[in-house]
Amino acid sequence: MPTCINRRDFIGLSLGGFAAVGTGAALVAMKGSWDPLPSVISAGFTTVDISTLKEGECKTVEWRGKPVYILKKTAQMTPNASRDVHIDGANYSIGVQICTHLGCIPYYESATTSFKCACHGGAFDVNGIQTFGPPPKPMEIPPFKIDGSRLVLGEEGAEYKKLVAKA
Ligand code: FES
Repeated sequence: MPTCINRRDFIGLSLGGFAAVGTGAALVAMKGSWDPLPSVISAGFTTVDISTLKEGECKTVEWRGKPVYILKKTAQMTPNASRDVHIDGANYSIGVQICTHLGCIPYYESATTSFKCACHGGAFDVNGIQTFGPPPKPMEIPPFKIDGSRLVLGEEGAEYKKLVAKA
């Protein structure tokens, strides 16, 4: 069952990241079993190999201490020209998985294909746009660059600049 991370999982993920930093020497930390997609964190960038992501699947990775969701959209999911990210013929929704109301971490509910915020009942659609409750705006799109089948979070690539220009 495809799901994005919940708050408790993310805290564990973050602590794992801090522990890796605490060991000191390495600038590049290759993460292991706790990370849902192969990714490398280095100097503020998170590089994620998204080639194994299946249609309809949503995964969360860590970028600069924040959860970022990556959802590979299905043909049935509503397209959004100002938020869809096109990689290798597929559409992805990418966003900082933090509620724009008071900062809780919404979880992805695959049955309703929406993000739900347990704090005050807010909801977002698959495009990260608020659809219900108090969230005042969509979830933020993090800066990213596309490098083949890899996504580099933290770098402003051409695709990201195009989306920002449309916003
Ligand atoms: S923090 Fe998400 S609805 Fe309030």
